[in-house]
Amino acid sequence: MKIIEAKDYQDMSQSAARFIIEQVNRLSAPVLGLATGGTPLGTYQVLREDHARNKTTYKHVYTVNLDEYVGVSPDHENSYTFYMKKQLFDHIDIPLSHTHLPNGMACDQDAECSRYEALIERLGGIDLQVLGLGLNGHIGFNEPGTPFSSKTHTVELTQSTKEANARYFDSYDAVPSQAITMGISTIMKSKQILLLVSGEKKAGILAKLLTEEPNEDTPASVLKTHQDVVIIADSDALSIVKERGMAF
Ligand code: PGA
Repeated sequence: MKIIEAKDYQDMSQSAARFIIEQVNRLSAPVLGLATGGTPLGTYQVLREDHARNKTTYKHVYTVNLDEYVGVSPDHENSYTFYMKKQLFDHIDIPLSHTHLPNGMACDQDAECSRYEALIERLGGIDLQVLGLGLNGHIGFNEPGTPFSSKTHTVELTQSTKEANARYFDSYDAVPSQAITMGISTIMKSKQILLLVSGEKKAGILAKLLTEEPNEDTPASVLKTHQDVVIIADSDALSIVKERGMAF
């Protein structure tokens, strides 16, 4: 794993956006795996600004998102579909037909999970997967204990994840209890992975993932077994790693 230290959130966002733009410009039909949450907001802002200023085109780009809440309609403001449109898709020239998220409203969730897994394969796999890091070490919504062999599946969200996401809802009880997420093996098949980590509250889990052997209680630790992972972390997120004098 390659670790790049960013000065702060803004610097992390700029570096991440540069990284993504490079792939978008280099590949003829890039498949980007995208993440939601607080961490990539700044990255999407830089991508929007870059598109407006430099006319970077996304007409040839395909996207697959990591996850979507179960039971939240795509046009509801708390859905990840809504988030992606608002933060990115509505501001760049990507055809909406090229953008994909799991359908959280599917009647048959197992069939939807199989469809999503097959879709990613049909697109030729993910060239670059962007990930945030959950406070409990989750990637996508793969909570601690998820088998490394998992494919796209429905998950019960843990209390820690629901608490972390309650800030986007009226109350903790309004946070959906389930989501459909790419599995860990789905994520690991990506050719390249970009993990973004920002803020002091992520310092503990980042240090844990860097020190532990890969284990299913810390889902992100699986990334140590991938051959092309780049972590862009700001100095607050790296504070414990640096305090312990760990080399990176
Ligand atoms: P955050 O979430 O970006 O909102 O901190 C990260 C995650 O839960 O994967």
